[in-house]
Amino acid sequence: MQKPTQATLDKIISLCKRKGFVFQTAEIYGGLNGVYDFGHLGFLLRENIKRAWRNSIENDLGEIYTLEGSLLGTQRMWEASGHIDNFHDPMVDCKNCKKRFRTDDGSIDLNKNCPDCGIKNWTEVRNFNLMFKTELGAVADGTAHAYLRPETAQTIFINFKNMMTTNRAKMPFGVAQIGKSFRNEITPKQFLFRLREFEQMELEWFCSQESAMENFEFWLAKRREFYRSLGLNMDRIRFHAHGKEELAHYSVCCTDIEYEFPFGFKELEGIAHRGTFDLTQHSKFSGKDLAVFDEATKTSHTPVVVETSVGVDRLFLTLLFDAYYEDEMDGETRVVLKFAPHIAPIKLAIFPLTKKLEEPALALFKTIKKTVPNIQFDVTGSIGKRYRRQDEIGTPFCITYDFDTEHDNCVTIRDRDSGKQDRIAITDIMSYLTEHGVINS
Ligand code: GAP
Repeated sequence: MQKPTQATLDKIISLCKRKGFVFQTAEIYGGLNGVYDFGHLGFLLRENIKRAWRNSIENDLGEIYTLEGSLLGTQRMWEASGHIDNFHDPMVDCKNCKKRFRTDDGSIDLNKNCPDCGIKNWTEVRNFNLMFKTELGAVADGTAHAYLRPETAQTIFINFKNMMTTNRAKMPFGVAQIGKSFRNEITPKQFLFRLREFEQMELEWFCSQESAMENFEFWLAKRREFYRSLGLNMDRIRFHAHGKEELAHYSVCCTDIEYEFPFGFKELEGIAHRGTFDLTQHSKFSGKDLAVFDEATKTSHTPVVVETSVGVDRLFLTLLFDAYYEDEMDGETRVVLKFAPHIAPIKLAIFPLTKKLEEPALALFKTIKKTVPNIQFDVTGSIGKRYRRQDEIGTPFCITYDFDTEHDNCVTIRDRDSGKQDRIAITDIMSYLTEHGVINS
Protein backbone atom coordinates (compact mmCIF):
# COMPACT_ATOMS: atom_id res chain seq x y z
CA MET A 1 0.00 0.00 0.00
CA GLN A 2 1.30 3.47 -0.96
CA LYS A 3 2.30 5.77 1.91
CA PRO A 4 -0.08 8.74 2.23
CA THR A 5 1.39 11.84 0.64
CA GLN A 6 3.25 14.26 2.89
CA ALA A 7 2.57 17.05 0.43
CA THR A 8 0.11 19.75 1.31
CA LEU A 9 -1.02 22.55 -0.96
CA ASP A 10 0.93 25.07 1.16
CA LYS A 11 4.14 23.05 0.94
CA ILE A 12 3.81 22.71 -2.85
CA ILE A 13 3.07 26.43 -3.32
CA SER A 14 6.05 27.36 -1.16
CA LEU A 15 8.40 24.96 -2.97
CA CYS A 16 7.24 26.24 -6.37
CA LYS A 17 8.00 29.82 -5.40
CA ARG A 18 11.25 29.08 -3.54
CA LYS A 19 12.72 27.10 -6.40
CA GLY A 20 11.32 29.16 -9.26
CA PHE A 21 8.80 26.72 -10.73
CA VAL A 22 5.82 29.08 -10.49
CA PHE A 23 5.28 32.76 -9.70
CA GLN A 24 2.06 34.64 -9.08
CA THR A 25 1.35 36.76 -12.17
CA ALA A 26 2.01 40.48 -11.62
CA GLU A 27 3.05 39.74 -8.07
CA ILE A 28 4.73 43.14 -7.67
CA TYR A 29 1.37 44.75 -8.53
CA GLY A 30 -0.58 42.66 -6.05
CA GLY A 31 -1.17 39.62 -8.31
CA LEU A 32 -3.92 38.46 -10.64
CA ASN A 33 -6.20 35.77 -9.28
CA GLY A 34 -6.14 32.44 -11.13
CA VAL A 35 -3.22 33.34 -13.40
CA TYR A 36 0.42 32.28 -12.95
CA ASP A 37 3.83 32.71 -14.57
CA PHE A 38 6.24 29.81 -14.86
CA GLY A 39 9.93 30.21 -14.05
CA HIS A 40 12.85 28.32 -15.56
CA LEU A 41 12.18 24.97 -13.84
CA GLY A 42 8.44 25.33 -14.42
CA PHE A 43 9.00 25.93 -18.12
CA LEU A 44 11.27 22.86 -18.38
CA LEU A 45 8.78 20.68 -16.50
CA ARG A 46 5.98 21.82 -18.80
CA GLU A 47 8.09 21.05 -21.87
CA ASN A 48 8.73 17.52 -20.57
CA ILE A 49 5.03 16.99 -19.85
CA LYS A 50 4.07 18.12 -23.35
CA ARG A 51 6.73 15.96 -25.02
CA ALA A 52 5.60 12.92 -23.01
CA TRP A 53 1.95 13.57 -23.93
CA ARG A 54 2.79 13.98 -27.63
CA ASN A 55 4.70 10.67 -27.59
CA SER A 56 1.90 8.94 -25.68
CA ILE A 57 -0.75 9.47 -28.35
CA GLU A 58 1.21 7.75 -31.13
CA ASN A 59 -0.64 4.53 -31.88
CA ASP A 60 -1.15 1.69 -34.37
CA LEU A 61 -4.74 2.51 -35.33
CA GLY A 62 -4.22 5.78 -37.19
CA GLU A 63 -2.15 8.89 -37.80
CA ILE A 64 -2.00 11.87 -35.49
CA TYR A 65 -1.77 15.33 -37.07
CA THR A 66 -1.14 18.51 -35.12
CA LEU A 67 -2.88 21.88 -35.16
CA GLU A 68 -2.12 25.19 -33.54
CA GLY A 69 -5.44 26.99 -33.58
CA SER A 70 -6.10 30.64 -32.81
CA LEU A 71 -6.99 31.80 -29.31
CA LEU A 72 -9.70 34.18 -30.51
CA GLY A 73 -12.86 32.79 -32.08
CA THR A 74 -16.07 34.18 -33.55
CA GLN A 75 -19.41 34.53 -31.79
CA ARG A 76 -21.00 32.16 -34.32
CA MET A 77 -18.61 29.28 -33.68
CA TRP A 78 -19.24 29.45 -29.93
CA GLU A 79 -22.97 29.53 -30.59
CA ALA A 80 -22.57 26.36 -32.65
CA SER A 81 -20.49 24.60 -29.99
CA GLY A 82 -23.11 25.38 -27.32
CA HIS A 83 -20.73 27.48 -25.21
CA ILE A 84 -22.74 30.71 -25.47
CA ASP A 85 -25.88 28.99 -24.18
CA ASN A 86 -24.49 26.32 -21.88
CA PHE A 87 -21.02 27.20 -20.66
CA HIS A 88 -21.89 28.81 -17.37
CA ASP A 89 -21.78 28.26 -13.63
CA PRO A 90 -24.41 29.43 -11.13
CA MET A 91 -23.16 32.25 -8.92
CA VAL A 92 -24.23 34.59 -6.19
CA ASP A 93 -22.77 37.86 -4.82
CA CYS A 94 -22.57 39.00 -1.24
CA LYS A 95 -24.16 42.49 -1.39
CA ASN A 96 -22.19 43.54 1.67
CA CYS A 97 -18.57 42.64 0.82
CA LYS A 98 -19.11 42.14 -2.96
CA LYS A 99 -17.43 38.72 -2.85
CA ARG A 100 -18.65 36.32 -5.55
CA PHE A 101 -19.26 32.57 -5.01
CA ARG A 102 -20.23 29.53 -7.06
CA THR A 103 -23.34 27.94 -5.65
CA ASP A 104 -22.82 24.44 -7.07
CA ASP A 105 -19.48 23.43 -5.54
CA GLY A 106 -20.42 23.20 -1.87
CA SER A 107 -18.33 26.23 -0.90
CA ILE A 108 -21.27 28.22 0.54
CA ASP A 109 -24.67 27.69 2.12
CA LEU A 110 -27.13 30.44 1.12
CA ASN A 111 -29.07 29.89 4.35
CA LYS A 112 -26.00 30.97 6.26
CA ASN A 113 -23.90 34.15 6.49
CA CYS A 114 -21.20 35.06 3.96
CA PRO A 115 -18.04 33.13 4.94
CA ASP A 116 -15.98 36.23 4.14
CA CYS A 117 -17.71 39.12 5.95
CA GLY A 118 -20.08 37.18 8.24
CA ILE A 119 -23.23 39.05 7.07
CA LYS A 120 -26.16 37.44 5.27
CA ASN A 121 -27.16 39.60 2.30
CA TRP A 122 -27.15 37.52 -0.90
CA THR A 123 -28.17 38.51 -4.43
CA GLU A 124 -30.35 36.15 -6.52
CA VAL A 125 -28.52 33.11 -7.92
CA ARG A 126 -27.78 33.69 -11.61
CA ASN A 127 -25.82 32.05 -14.41
CA PHE A 128 -22.39 33.39 -15.24
CA ASN A 129 -20.88 32.59 -18.66
CA LEU A 130 -17.26 31.51 -18.26
CA MET A 131 -15.98 32.81 -21.59
CA PHE A 132 -13.87 35.97 -21.85
CA LYS A 133 -15.55 38.24 -24.37
CA THR A 134 -13.80 41.03 -26.24
CA GLU A 135 -14.27 43.38 -29.23
CA LEU A 136 -12.27 43.21 -32.44
CA GLY A 137 -10.98 46.49 -33.86
CA ALA A 138 -11.43 50.04 -32.63
CA VAL A 139 -15.25 50.26 -32.67
CA ALA A 140 -16.93 48.76 -29.63
CA ASP A 141 -20.42 48.79 -31.15
CA GLY A 142 -21.12 45.12 -30.49
CA THR A 143 -20.83 44.05 -34.16
CA ALA A 144 -17.43 42.39 -33.81
CA HIS A 145 -17.54 40.31 -30.68
CA ALA A 146 -14.87 37.69 -30.26
CA TYR A 147 -14.16 35.21 -27.48
CA LEU A 148 -10.99 33.74 -26.04
CA ARG A 149 -11.36 29.99 -26.45
CA PRO A 150 -12.42 28.07 -23.33
CA GLU A 151 -11.09 24.81 -24.84
CA THR A 152 -8.79 23.98 -27.74
CA ALA A 153 -11.18 21.35 -29.13
CA GLN A 154 -13.41 23.66 -31.16
CA THR A 155 -10.55 25.01 -33.30
CA ILE A 156 -9.92 21.39 -34.27
CA PHE A 157 -13.56 20.77 -35.23
CA ILE A 158 -13.83 23.90 -37.37
CA ASN A 159 -10.62 22.86 -39.18
CA PHE A 160 -11.71 19.24 -39.61
CA LYS A 161 -12.04 19.44 -43.41
CA ASN A 162 -8.83 21.48 -43.79
CA MET A 163 -6.89 18.94 -41.75
CA MET A 164 -8.38 15.92 -43.47
CA THR A 165 -7.87 17.13 -47.04
CA THR A 166 -4.44 18.79 -46.71
CA ASN A 167 -3.02 15.75 -44.88
CA ARG A 168 -4.92 13.29 -47.14
CA ALA A 169 -5.94 11.65 -43.87
CA LYS A 170 -7.63 8.25 -43.74
CA MET A 171 -10.05 7.44 -40.94
CA PRO A 172 -9.54 6.79 -38.16
CA PHE A 173 -7.14 9.64 -37.48
CA GLY A 174 -6.50 12.16 -34.74
CA VAL A 175 -5.84 15.87 -34.54
CA ALA A 176 -3.83 16.88 -31.49
CA GLN A 177 -3.42 20.31 -30.07
CA ILE A 178 -1.52 21.77 -27.14
CA GLY A 179 -2.47 25.33 -26.36
CA LYS A 180 -3.86 27.96 -24.07
CA SER A 181 -7.51 28.11 -23.01
CA PHE A 182 -9.27 30.73 -20.92
CA ARG A 183 -12.16 30.44 -18.49
CA ASN A 184 -13.41 33.24 -16.31
CA GLU A 185 -13.76 30.90 -13.34
CA ILE A 186 -15.87 32.48 -10.58
CA THR A 187 -13.61 31.08 -7.89
CA PRO A 188 -10.20 29.95 -9.18
CA LYS A 189 -8.74 27.70 -6.51
CA GLN A 190 -6.22 25.19 -5.28
CA PHE A 191 -3.25 26.92 -6.94
CA LEU A 192 -2.84 25.44 -10.46
CA PHE A 193 -5.90 23.20 -10.21
CA ARG A 194 -8.53 25.69 -11.37
CA LEU A 195 -7.12 28.60 -13.34
CA ARG A 196 -8.46 31.38 -15.51
CA GLU A 197 -5.65 30.97 -18.05
CA PHE A 198 -4.36 27.45 -18.58
CA GLU A 199 -3.02 25.11 -21.22
CA GLN A 200 -4.76 22.01 -22.54
CA MET A 201 -3.52 18.92 -24.38
CA GLU A 202 -6.42 17.63 -26.42
CA LEU A 203 -6.77 14.87 -28.95
CA GLU A 204 -9.84 14.72 -31.18
CA TRP A 205 -10.03 11.26 -32.73
CA PHE A 206 -12.25 10.93 -35.80
CA CYS A 207 -13.70 7.47 -36.43
CA SER A 208 -16.74 5.69 -37.81
CA GLN A 209 -19.97 5.26 -35.87
CA GLU A 210 -19.55 1.47 -35.85
CA SER A 211 -16.05 1.56 -34.34
CA ALA A 212 -16.70 4.39 -31.87
CA MET A 213 -17.12 2.36 -28.66
CA GLU A 214 -14.13 0.18 -29.48
CA ASN A 215 -12.07 3.35 -30.11
CA PHE A 216 -13.31 4.87 -26.85
CA GLU A 217 -12.11 1.77 -24.95
CA PHE A 218 -8.82 1.88 -26.84
CA TRP A 219 -8.14 5.45 -25.70
CA LEU A 220 -9.12 4.67 -22.10
CA ALA A 221 -6.44 1.98 -22.00
CA LYS A 222 -3.88 4.22 -23.74
CA ARG A 223 -4.44 7.01 -21.29
CA ARG A 224 -4.00 4.67 -18.29
CA GLU A 225 -0.69 3.62 -19.83
CA PHE A 226 0.35 7.28 -20.10
CA TYR A 227 -0.06 7.88 -16.38
CA ARG A 228 1.80 4.69 -15.60
CA SER A 229 4.67 5.81 -17.86
CA LEU A 230 4.90 9.13 -15.98
CA GLY A 231 5.70 7.11 -12.87
CA LEU A 232 2.54 8.23 -11.02
CA ASN A 233 1.40 6.13 -8.07
CA MET A 234 -1.38 4.22 -9.80
CA ASP A 235 -3.22 3.61 -6.54
CA ARG A 236 -3.87 7.37 -6.48
CA ILE A 237 -5.52 7.16 -9.91
CA ARG A 238 -9.09 6.05 -10.51
CA PHE A 239 -11.44 6.00 -13.48
CA HIS A 240 -14.87 7.50 -12.98
CA ALA A 241 -17.46 6.63 -15.66
CA HIS A 242 -20.13 9.36 -15.80
CA GLY A 243 -23.70 8.42 -15.06
CA LYS A 244 -26.38 9.71 -17.48
CA GLU A 245 -27.16 12.72 -15.25
CA GLU A 246 -23.48 13.82 -15.22
CA LEU A 247 -22.97 13.79 -18.99
CA ALA A 248 -22.31 17.08 -20.81
CA HIS A 249 -24.89 18.02 -23.43
CA TYR A 250 -22.67 16.72 -26.26
CA SER A 251 -21.50 13.44 -24.69
CA VAL A 252 -22.60 9.89 -25.49
CA CYS A 253 -20.37 8.58 -22.72
CA CYS A 254 -17.49 9.98 -20.70
CA THR A 255 -14.91 8.76 -18.21
CA ASP A 256 -12.83 11.01 -16.00
CA ILE A 257 -9.38 9.97 -14.90
CA GLU A 258 -9.15 11.21 -11.33
CA TYR A 259 -6.15 11.70 -9.07
CA GLU A 260 -6.25 11.62 -5.29
CA PHE A 261 -5.07 15.12 -4.33
CA PRO A 262 -4.78 16.08 -0.63
CA PHE A 263 -8.16 17.80 -1.22
CA GLY A 264 -9.76 14.57 -2.51
CA PHE A 265 -10.14 12.66 -5.79
CA LYS A 266 -10.49 15.23 -8.59
CA GLU A 267 -10.61 15.15 -12.39
CA LEU A 268 -7.26 15.13 -14.10
CA GLU A 269 -8.36 14.18 -17.61
CA GLY A 270 -11.65 13.61 -19.41
CA ILE A 271 -12.20 11.02 -22.13
CA ALA A 272 -15.44 11.53 -24.02
CA HIS A 273 -17.34 9.88 -26.84
CA ARG A 274 -18.82 13.07 -28.32
CA GLY A 275 -20.84 11.35 -31.04
CA THR A 276 -21.34 13.49 -34.16
CA PHE A 277 -22.43 16.53 -32.14
CA ASP A 278 -19.52 18.86 -32.94
CA LEU A 279 -19.23 18.34 -36.69
CA THR A 280 -23.02 18.36 -37.10
CA GLN A 281 -23.33 21.65 -35.22
CA HIS A 282 -20.54 23.36 -37.14
CA SER A 283 -22.02 22.11 -40.45
CA LYS A 284 -25.38 23.55 -39.46
CA PHE A 285 -24.10 26.93 -38.25
CA SER A 286 -21.47 27.50 -40.95
CA GLY A 287 -23.48 26.07 -43.84
CA LYS A 288 -20.38 24.01 -44.84
CA ASP A 289 -20.85 20.28 -45.12
CA LEU A 290 -18.37 18.55 -42.80
CA ALA A 291 -19.50 15.01 -43.67
CA VAL A 292 -17.03 12.58 -45.24
CA PHE A 293 -17.67 10.72 -48.49
CA ASP A 294 -16.81 7.05 -48.33
CA GLU A 295 -15.64 5.82 -51.78
CA ALA A 296 -16.19 2.18 -50.85
CA THR A 297 -19.85 2.52 -49.90
CA LYS A 298 -20.52 5.68 -51.97
CA THR A 299 -22.20 7.23 -48.96
CA SER A 300 -21.61 10.33 -46.88
CA HIS A 301 -21.36 10.21 -43.10
CA THR A 302 -20.37 12.47 -40.24
CA PRO A 303 -17.47 11.04 -38.23
CA VAL A 304 -17.78 10.37 -34.53
CA VAL A 305 -15.33 12.09 -32.19
CA VAL A 306 -13.56 10.45 -29.27
CA GLU A 307 -11.77 13.09 -27.22
CA THR A 308 -9.02 12.92 -24.63
CA SER A 309 -8.40 16.18 -22.77
CA VAL A 310 -6.01 17.04 -19.96
CA GLY A 311 -4.66 20.33 -18.63
CA VAL A 312 -0.88 20.85 -18.63
CA ASP A 313 -1.15 22.86 -15.41
CA ARG A 314 -3.33 20.31 -13.65
CA LEU A 315 -0.95 17.52 -14.61
CA PHE A 316 1.97 19.72 -13.50
CA LEU A 317 0.35 20.06 -10.07
CA THR A 318 -0.40 16.32 -9.97
CA LEU A 319 3.21 15.44 -10.72
CA LEU A 320 4.40 17.75 -7.95
CA PHE A 321 2.03 16.24 -5.40
CA ASP A 322 2.89 12.73 -6.48
CA ALA A 323 6.66 13.23 -6.48
CA TYR A 324 6.87 15.12 -3.17
CA TYR A 325 8.42 13.28 -0.22
CA GLU A 326 10.03 14.26 3.05
CA ASP A 327 12.45 11.57 4.18
CA GLU A 328 15.67 10.99 6.09
CA MET A 329 18.98 10.70 4.27
CA ASP A 330 22.47 10.78 5.75
CA GLY A 331 20.96 11.69 9.12
CA GLU A 332 19.12 14.73 7.73
CA THR A 333 15.51 15.38 6.81
CA ARG A 334 15.19 16.31 3.19
CA VAL A 335 12.47 17.38 0.77
CA VAL A 336 12.73 15.43 -2.46
CA LEU A 337 10.77 15.40 -5.72
CA LYS A 338 10.94 11.85 -7.06
CA PHE A 339 10.17 12.71 -10.69
CA ALA A 340 10.65 10.05 -13.36
CA PRO A 341 13.93 10.94 -15.15
CA HIS A 342 12.19 11.92 -18.40
CA ILE A 343 9.96 14.36 -16.47
CA ALA A 344 12.63 15.90 -14.21
CA PRO A 345 13.40 19.47 -15.32
CA ILE A 346 17.12 19.16 -14.50
CA LYS A 347 18.63 15.83 -15.45
CA LEU A 348 22.01 15.99 -13.79
CA ALA A 349 24.13 18.19 -11.54
CA ILE A 350 27.91 18.30 -11.52
CA PHE A 351 29.92 19.31 -8.44
CA PRO A 352 33.64 19.79 -8.01
CA LEU A 353 34.52 18.45 -4.55
CA THR A 354 36.36 21.70 -3.76
CA LYS A 355 36.90 25.03 -5.52
CA LYS A 356 40.37 23.80 -6.54
CA LEU A 357 38.72 21.31 -8.90
CA GLU A 358 36.36 23.85 -10.44
CA GLU A 359 38.18 24.15 -13.76
CA PRO A 360 38.28 20.45 -14.81
CA ALA A 361 34.77 19.85 -13.40
CA LEU A 362 33.45 22.79 -15.40
CA ALA A 363 35.07 21.39 -18.55
CA LEU A 364 33.25 18.09 -17.94
CA PHE A 365 30.00 19.99 -17.35
CA LYS A 366 30.37 21.84 -20.67
CA THR A 367 31.04 18.60 -22.55
CA ILE A 368 27.97 16.82 -21.12
CA LYS A 369 25.79 19.91 -21.63
CA LYS A 370 26.26 19.58 -25.40
CA THR A 371 24.26 16.32 -25.27
CA VAL A 372 22.13 16.91 -22.18
CA PRO A 373 21.31 20.64 -22.13
CA ASN A 374 19.38 20.81 -18.88
CA ILE A 375 22.08 20.18 -16.31
CA GLN A 376 23.47 22.33 -13.50
CA PHE A 377 26.90 23.11 -12.09
CA ASP A 378 27.20 23.86 -8.39
CA VAL A 379 30.31 24.74 -6.47
CA THR A 380 28.77 26.37 -3.38
CA GLY A 381 28.43 24.74 0.06
CA SER A 382 29.12 21.21 1.27
CA ILE A 383 28.40 18.26 -1.04
CA GLY A 384 25.51 17.33 1.30
CA LYS A 385 23.97 20.81 0.86
CA ARG A 386 24.38 20.58 -2.89
CA TYR A 387 22.63 17.18 -2.93
CA ARG A 388 19.73 18.65 -0.92
CA ARG A 389 19.36 21.53 -3.40
CA GLN A 390 19.09 19.09 -6.28
CA ASP A 391 16.79 16.68 -4.41
CA GLU A 392 14.34 19.51 -3.85
CA ILE A 393 14.00 20.16 -7.57
CA GLY A 394 13.94 16.47 -8.51
CA THR A 395 17.33 16.06 -10.25
CA PRO A 396 17.76 12.28 -10.64
CA PHE A 397 21.57 12.16 -10.56
CA CYS A 398 24.49 14.17 -9.18
CA ILE A 399 28.12 13.72 -10.18
CA THR A 400 31.02 14.65 -7.90
CA TYR A 401 34.39 15.35 -9.45
CA ASP A 402 37.03 14.69 -6.76
CA PHE A 403 40.83 14.57 -6.40
CA ASP A 404 40.94 10.90 -7.49
CA THR A 405 39.23 11.84 -10.75
CA GLU A 406 42.45 13.55 -11.79
CA HIS A 407 44.21 10.12 -11.70
CA ASP A 408 41.56 7.47 -12.41
CA ASN A 409 39.25 9.44 -14.75
CA CYS A 410 36.29 8.25 -12.71
CA VAL A 411 33.55 10.23 -10.95
CA THR A 412 31.01 9.42 -8.23
CA ILE A 413 27.42 9.38 -9.44
CA ARG A 414 24.69 9.47 -6.81
CA ASP A 415 21.11 8.32 -7.21
CA ARG A 416 18.50 10.78 -5.87
CA ASP A 417 16.02 8.22 -4.52
CA SER A 418 18.29 5.65 -2.86
CA GLY A 419 21.32 7.86 -2.17
CA LYS A 420 23.41 5.00 -3.60
CA GLN A 421 26.74 6.06 -5.08
CA ASP A 422 28.54 4.39 -8.00
CA ARG A 423 32.05 5.08 -9.16
CA ILE A 424 32.03 5.19 -12.96
CA ALA A 425 34.47 6.13 -15.72
CA ILE A 426 33.91 9.55 -17.28
CA THR A 427 33.68 7.77 -20.64
CA ASP A 428 30.72 5.74 -19.31
CA ILE A 429 28.63 8.71 -18.11
CA MET A 430 26.50 8.89 -21.26
CA SER A 431 25.71 5.17 -21.32
CA TYR A 432 24.89 5.31 -17.58
CA LEU A 433 22.44 8.17 -18.21
CA THR A 434 20.89 6.31 -21.15
CA GLU A 435 20.52 3.12 -19.10
CA HIS A 436 18.79 5.09 -16.34
CA GLY A 437 16.28 6.78 -18.63
CA VAL A 438 17.79 10.30 -18.55
CA ILE A 439 18.76 10.45 -22.23
CA ASN A 440 16.51 9.47 -25.16
CA SER A 441 13.45 9.01 -23.05
N1 GAP B 1 -12.71 19.77 -24.57
C1 GAP B 1 -13.21 19.19 -23.37
C2 GAP B 1 -12.89 19.99 -22.17
O1 GAP B 1 -12.37 21.08 -22.23
P1 GAP B 1 -13.00 19.92 -19.57
O2 GAP B 1 -13.32 18.77 -18.64
O3 GAP B 1 -13.73 21.18 -19.36
O4 GAP B 1 -13.23 19.33 -21.03
C3 GAP B 1 -10.51 19.20 -19.81
O5 GAP B 1 -11.45 20.21 -19.49
C4 GAP B 1 -9.31 19.26 -18.89
O6 GAP B 1 -8.76 20.60 -18.92
C5 GAP B 1 -9.63 19.02 -17.42
O7 GAP B 1 -9.67 17.64 -17.13
C6 GAP B 1 -8.47 19.71 -16.73
O8 GAP B 1 -7.32 18.88 -16.75
C7 GAP B 1 -8.25 20.91 -17.63
N2 GAP B 1 -8.96 22.10 -17.12
C8 GAP B 1 -10.24 22.45 -17.32
N3 GAP B 1 -10.56 23.61 -16.71
C9 GAP B 1 -9.43 24.02 -16.09
C10 GAP B 1 -9.09 25.15 -15.28
N4 GAP B 1 -9.98 26.11 -15.02
N5 GAP B 1 -7.83 25.24 -14.80
C11 GAP B 1 -6.91 24.28 -15.08
N6 GAP B 1 -7.17 23.21 -15.83
C12 GAP B 1 -8.41 23.05 -16.34
